[in-house]
Amino acid sequence: MMSPLPQAADRLIVALDVPTWAEADRLIRDLKGIVRRVKVGQTLFTACGPDAVHRLVEGGMGVFLDLKYHDIPATVAGAARSAARLGVEMFNVHALGGRAMMVACADALADEEASGSHRPKALAVTLLTSVDEKVMEEVRLEGEPATMVPRLAALASQAGLDGVVASPREVSALRSARGLDFLIVVPGVRPAGADADDHARSATPRDAIAAGADYVVVGRPITRAASPAGAAEAVIAEIAEGLAEAGEGSP
Ligand code: C5P
Repeated sequence: MMSPLPQAADRLIVALDVPTWAEADRLIRDLKGIVRRVKVGQTLFTACGPDAVHRLVEGGMGVFLDLKYHDIPATVAGAARSAARLGVEMFNVHALGGRAMMVACADALADEEASGSHRPKALAVTLLTSVDEKVMEEVRLEGEPATMVPRLAALASQAGLDGVVASPREVSALRSARGLDFLIVVPGVRPAGADADDHARSATPRDAIAAGADYVVVGRPITRAASPAGAAEAVIAEIAEGLAEAGEGSP
């Protein structure tokens, strides 16, 4: 039987939340041959710009550009075109930007694809996991996260986006509601026995994958480990267990 580890490695996205290219480069060299996908968020992008993304893409990494666009439809459409031309594999927008903003994003990607460009996957951030009932009340959002998240995921899907970024606790309900074609990317993932850092609720790679996540995002447990490569291999082994539990391979 083929080892499930290559398949498991595809499901890991390492969050490169470092403020310099030197640190990102050191990590990438260490993770080469083990990790295939990284997330570039506001820390690295604001420091190093699209150059960092170019270098990662040229080096063969799949890049999730995590800049959480939230602006008027025309501006988000422009950002989506720029992301497509940068060659990223996926990027995200805030579902709270509304249907017209997400439709403009999906239409821009369809135009890019029609003109021969690569089409990245567009994900929606539903509610940030830092937004609880108190924050919702502060900004006069009615309801509660448990009902708002599936509603915003449905809106993103109807608008033509490819999936969502979801917290571990939302994965299985979103998978049941939205079916297999909807991408679910899950941050807040911690290897068994690791410190949860600032995540109020975390899940292990095994549990997140078994619950239906397509990808798990892991940052500090890998990037701050004495051996990032060793830590990534351990996470991949846990993902393989989750795939086996979900009936998609055996460890
Ligand atoms: O280091 P750690 O594994 O906690 O990194 C998690 C990553 O996932 C960070 O880059 C953070 O910005 C991102 N994240 C997110 N949405 C959340 C929670 C975390 O994009 N709801």
